Amino acid sequence: MIVVTGATGHLGRLVIDGLLKKVPASEIVAAVRTPEKAHDLAERGVQVRMADYKQPKSLEAALQGAAKLLLISSNDIGHYEVQHKAVIDAAKRAGIGFVAYTSLLHADTSPLKIAVEHLATERYLRASGMAFSLLRNGWYFENQTAAIPIAIENGAFIGASGDGRYAAAARADYAEAAVSVLTAEGHDNTIYELGGDFPYTRSELAAEVSKQLGKKVAYRNLPEEEYEKILAKFVPSVAAHVIADAEANAAAGALDDNSHTLSRLIGRKTTLLADAVADALKTPVATH
Ligand SMILES: NC(=O)c1ccc[n+]([C@@H]2O[C@H](COP(=O)([O-])OP(=O)(O)OC[C@H]3O[C@@H](n4cnc5c(N)ncnc54)[C@H](OP(=O)(O)O)[C@@H]3O)[C@@H](O)[C@H]2O)c1
Repeated sequence: MIVVTGATGHLGRLVIDGLLKKVPASEIVAAVRTPEKAHDLAERGVQVRMADYKQPKSLEAALQGAAKLLLISSNDIGHYEVQHKAVIDAAKRAGIGFVAYTSLLHADTSPLKIAVEHLATERYLRASGMAFSLLRNGWYFENQTAAIPIAIENGAFIGASGDGRYAAAARADYAEAAVSVLTAEGHDNTIYELGGDFPYTRSELAAEVSKQLGKKVAYRNLPEEEYEKILAKFVPSVAAHVIADAEANAAAGALDDNSHTLSRLIGRKTTLLADAVADALKTPVATH
């Protein structure tokens, strides 16, 4: 049995979709904080179990009988470490043999503030004695394409990453990598640096949007502090802080990667920026 935490999140749902193509639904457990959000998964035959990273008892019960676990990192910035440790402890008590964890690209050397919590989780998992796979995910395209509607409205994207390149990929690419690692042998005690095959700058993203729209959308680079202040009008201040920090570090290449490990894992090239933009233009969702 394979358990996926955070299964009602964006990435988790894509992982469940991928698993359903490879293993019987009865072998998949969606471990979710809010079971009411998972009726559709239950209807597809997936076992839905309540699992809150903040409630250790719920975790142990949710993990019973499982052979493998995908721990999808929490979105509760500043509290990842304690929450993830609770999941790892519960996995060990439940006798799980293999834990994959969605970490951050180059977590051990990354200057991003958010890397600290990921690295602490990685270290705890490695010390647990369970077999592990560290899926060090790069940036999602969706982080940036979600801003397309507001960029169109304002005539420009804003950011703080200058000419830094992003080896970003679609959430669906990262989900497929997780499915590969969960459903094939040979991934014990592995570390994968996962990024897109075609790194790009924010100006290149703006140029792609302009091309597809037939209308100029620029990229305006801002000092980190100014960018953070603007972001904080749209997202919680803790999120604004880590996003602005990530942008500033991306300027120096912290979110770039040319290992092509992700495409090797999924057996195909990663999603093209042009396709991600086209998708976003079909279903625009404004966040910031
Ligand atoms: N690589 C990147 O660019 C990038 C960008 C953003 C985030 N991330 C990281 O990747 C993770 C997955 O991304 P995503 O897009 O799927 O994020 P998401 O849609 O926000 O999903 C996060 C999931 O975590 C669950 N969760 C939060 N707190 C929990 C708790 N206390 N107990 C149990 N579950 C809890 C949420 O449950 P509910 O469904 O009940 O809310 C949700 O299902 C994020 O959580 C974050 O750590 C990576």
